Amino acid sequence: MHTRLLFTMFIIFVIVSCSKQPVPQHAIATAHPAATAAGMEILEHGGNAFDAAVAISATLAVVEPYSSGVGGGGFWLLHRADDGKQILIDGREVAPQRAHRDMYLDGQGNVQAQQSMDGALAAAIPGLPAALTHLAKHYGKLPLKESLQPALRAAREGFVVTAHYRRMAEFRLAVLRASPAASAIFLHNNAVPPLGHKIVQTDLARTLEMVAEKSAAGFYQGETAQQLINGVTAAGGLWTLEDLKNYQIKQREPIVSEYRGYRIVSAPPPSSGGVALAQMFNMLSQFDKTKMEPVQRKHILIESMRRAYRDRAEFLGDPDVVKVPVATLISREQAEDLASTISFEHATDNKNLRPVAPPPQGNHTTHFSILDKAGNRVAATLSINYPFGSGFVAPGTGVLLNDEMDDFVAKPGVANAYGLVGAQANAIAPGKRMLSSMTPTFVEGKDKVAILGTPGGSRIITMVLQGILGVIEGQAAGQIVAQPRFHHQYLPNVVQYETGAFSPEEMTELQRFGHVLQLEQPYGNMQIVIWDKQTQTVSAASDPRGEGQVLVK
Ligand code: DON
Repeated sequence: MHTRLLFTMFIIFVIVSCSKQPVPQHAIATAHPAATAAGMEILEHGGNAFDAAVAISATLAVVEPYSSGVGGGGFWLLHRADDGKQILIDGREVAPQRAHRDMYLDGQGNVQAQQSMDGALAAAIPGLPAALTHLAKHYGKLPLKESLQPALRAAREGFVVTAHYRRMAEFRLAVLRASPAASAIFLHNNAVPPLGHKIVQTDLARTLEMVAEKSAAGFYQGETAQQLINGVTAAGGLWTLEDLKNYQIKQREPIVSEYRGYRIVSAPPPSSGGVALAQMFNMLSQFDKTKMEPVQRKHILIESMRRAYRDRAEFLGDPDVVKVPVATLISREQAEDLASTISFEHATDNKNLRPVAPPPQGNHTTHFSILDKAGNRVAATLSINYPFGSGFVAPGTGVLLNDEMDDFVAKPGVANAYGLVGAQANAIAPGKRMLSSMTPTFVEGKDKVAILGTPGGSRIITMVLQGILGVIEGQAAGQIVAQPRFHHQYLPNVVQYETGAFSPEEMTELQRFGHVLQLEQPYGNMQIVIWDKQTQTVSAASDPRGEGQVLVK
């Protein structure tokens, strides 16, 4: 134990001192070219990575309305080069005060799934405006107003509809049509706009101007707040002016784990990402993977995923409301116990683990990674949950509201949109944050630092797991984001996989072990930046499944 502590302190020392090394170039990877350009513009005008994060978050809120937004929230993982400070800005949405545990159940106790996904009742109190204000004030070098300029321009001048936009709008056509304000902005003649059509967002520009002038108060108080409440109330939602006024971001200590000499820094509860990653890496540490065939390594990964997601379902929720036993969950002892139940030859029957709908494609929600020349870093994953969130825009605001309420457990054991089940820890309660899978992460070693993350609902954590393994194994950035993925989340009891994740022989072998394999459409939209300290080079890559772009200069 003592040696472990000394080792950890040594690693921290190495990382803090190394992170002061100058970085040869700025690097940005985001899911949209306009957001990448916005971030670089801010860096080149004297801003740091945190100012760039403000510019990118706000621009994505404009140009990727199906992924994140002013009406949503997210997690920003920061590393400040000056003093090595690492912190997570939790701008997760919270349930309004009038929300209650059974609000999505009908008279017979059945879940009314649509109510937690479509329209104003599905929306929780947004966190993005408060988070951007906090980032600019406490970490940035530039005024908030300046960093918001690229987003304001994009809202006023419009952005061009792409093939991906059309797919997302088609998927959410009915809910967008149900909100006249949403339809007027995001559809064309109440139909999916054609390729090349320009989406101009005058109301959103006005809302962003209010934030530029008055910071968070420009959104959570005054005229914008009143417009939001009027719109939400008229559409059957539960928000009050008090809910908006009381919204606060939280600063949280990241979850840190270690694997093969690398430090993995990731999101703490109310995200489940960091805890699940720590659990999975601790389990993997129990095995000597060098002595294994590739198929056995994949089997061990799948079994680690199964166990971490089972614990997620039982224990994880908002740490300010429920007691989450983080220290126990991420302890070596727990990992030893869990790993000891993994067989080398058989898939575990879920029934042998303690007891507690297939998900949609994972390319809404958004992630970006930034490294500036001073060594500051940001990994941020932002969301409004489902494509185009709740599909509801409060008239006059241009703000598309999230449907993050669906990330709560509407009823114990009943799966949400991502097929995730849960228990009391993630039940709905007033003012509570809903559990997330968003996993912005740093990987830190003597030789390199990586900044990564992805959207993808429940599959985010296992994508990040495979991304980190790629970093540790020395893969190039482009290879890491492109690699075919696989996933297990305890329930449903299947291994979801992309074409190419397993060879035909591996598939036969995994099936012989008792795994049920389920082919999925490509999923995820990973953005990664890698700083190789040995060669003094910076590289970045954007997932080929998405429409993102990187800039290194
Ligand atoms: O916070 C979460 O876990 C979800 N709201 C993320 C949603 C998501 O990644 C959708 N992407 N496919």
